[in-house]
Amino acid sequence: MSSRSPDELLRIEGIRKTFPGVVALDSVDFDLRRGEVHVLLGENGAGKSTLIKMLSGAYTPDAGRILAGDEEVRIHGAQDSERLGIATIYQEFNLVPDLTVAENIFLGRQPRRLGMIDRKRMDADAEVLLKRVGVNVSPRTRVRELGIARLQMVEIAKALSLDARVLIMDEPTAVLTSDEVEKLFAIVRRLREDGVGIVFITHHLEEIAALGDRVTVIRDGRSVGQVPASTPEDELVRLMVGRSIDQQYPRERTDAGEALLKVEGLTRDGVFHDVGFEVRAGEVVGIAGLVGAGRTEVVRAVFGADPYDAGTVHVAGAPLRPHDVNAAMAAGIGLVPEDRKGQGLVLDASVEENLGLVTLRSTARAGLVDLKGQHAAAERIAGQLGVRMAGLGQHVRTLSGGNQQKVVIGKWLLANTKVLILDEPTRGIDVGAKVEIYQLINELTAAGAAVLMISSDLPEVLGMSDRVVVMAQGRVAGELSAEQATQDSVMALAVSTHTNGTDGTEASRGH
Ligand SMILES: Nc1ncnc2c1ncn2[C@@H]1O[C@H](COP(=O)(O)OP(=O)(O)OP(=O)(O)O)[C@@H](O)[C@H]1O
Ligand SMILES: [Mg+2]
Repeated sequence: MSSRSPDELLRIEGIRKTFPGVVALDSVDFDLRRGEVHVLLGENGAGKSTLIKMLSGAYTPDAGRILAGDEEVRIHGAQDSERLGIATIYQEFNLVPDLTVAENIFLGRQPRRLGMIDRKRMDADAEVLLKRVGVNVSPRTRVRELGIARLQMVEIAKALSLDARVLIMDEPTAVLTSDEVEKLFAIVRRLREDGVGIVFITHHLEEIAALGDRVTVIRDGRSVGQVPASTPEDELVRLMVGRSIDQQYPRERTDAGEALLKVEGLTRDGVFHDVGFEVRAGEVVGIAGLVGAGRTEVVRAVFGADPYDAGTVHVAGAPLRPHDVNAAMAAGIGLVPEDRKGQGLVLDASVEENLGLVTLRSTARAGLVDLKGQHAAAERIAGQLGVRMAGLGQHVRTLSGGNQQKVVIGKWLLANTKVLILDEPTRGIDVGAKVEIYQLINELTAAGAAVLMISSDLPEVLGMSDRVVVMAQGRVAGELSAEQATQDSVMALAVSTHTNGTDGTEASRGH
């Protein structure tokens, strides 16, 4: 056994956790010191979230020990965890939408005066904490009104209010823009200086050297190594997936055919304006832009999930009825939404049922359901995507985050979609599985489908798109061929203001 550091806060030895049919953790060792950022690295389903749930008290281990200092501890429930000074920010947030920011921070511990909740004090205390994390939000705002970055800051403020010595963050950067990531890093660094021990889970390898001190790699429920955060990325990948990945963006171009999706003059008042582009058979078109540029809003309108005020959408030459998801699906459009939990999945249904959702709808309409065929097809797709599960009957709720995303993509693959729209398709996906998803995109386009991909991951857009449409402020700011598209050319368009001058705003591009 390795020697103990005097700064050790927590030690985990030989932890094991099984669920019916799944060994989530086989044997994991891990330790955390004061004033360090310890990164947990591993593929989707490797067991990272399960491990931290053992520290937060959500699960209890089947075997193994957890030590705090010299003492073996049992963490049964959130209160035990809190008593040990452990605060956890989950992959899915844990705030109550209808309560205010201050109420959420002090939930269950509201300061009282004469038996009544002392709102004044609660708001004042919350204000101090919010200042410490550097977030500009009123303690009296309802949490429902906050965007994701601010929700996360509120979670951190809550952790501070608990005086946490251990802060656990499960993929905190997955949903943040690069500016927000920088802000988060600044907070984490400050906490580290204050002596807090931070457990940090991420699939973004570049964040490891930027923020981390040590890395524990977990593969198939076992800790397979502990290395310094300065370890080169390819070495980290090799430890994590057990092989090296030589081509991160394996795009194989196909000759483009007819325009399968044609969008013209699409306008939704106050949201997006005069948006036009086309995607041809065999093509991958990327939509780049800053958060708030209107990309998600446009594709939701194309898919019929939202209405629009003007413009047209054609699929394979035929006009598509606006605001009608069924019509869009019948025409062969599929959408993998950015919010997979809210829109992409039925959490309490099985993997097989989720994979069959789209196909079942169309075949059932024709009057017959080929259950056997469904099962075989689901098996094939799940295998192709490498979905890590106990079986096709496992409920999607209990899949790891990355594996849930694979199921969302899989259901459209099964449905023989002609035009597949992907909104942030690799968010929360590990490096190996990303490549698998890119290969599926290649297969789709080789088979003649058209793919439209929104991504905030610029290297991904540049690496996988045959053409890039850049949006800014609800408009198409420009279109670039794969050859023209670079980090700089895309960013220049993404920050540009209206360029066509029709409504008085002058072009800001070079003369
Ligand atoms: N409540 C549960 N019931 C059944 N299986 C579960 C449950 N919770 C987790 N698992 C399984 O345990 C394994 C590990 O899951 P975990 O969520 O810890 O992975 P992860 O490393 O966090 O992955 P990701 O990077 O995708 O978030 C997965 O195979 C998952 O399906
Ligand atoms: Mg996880």
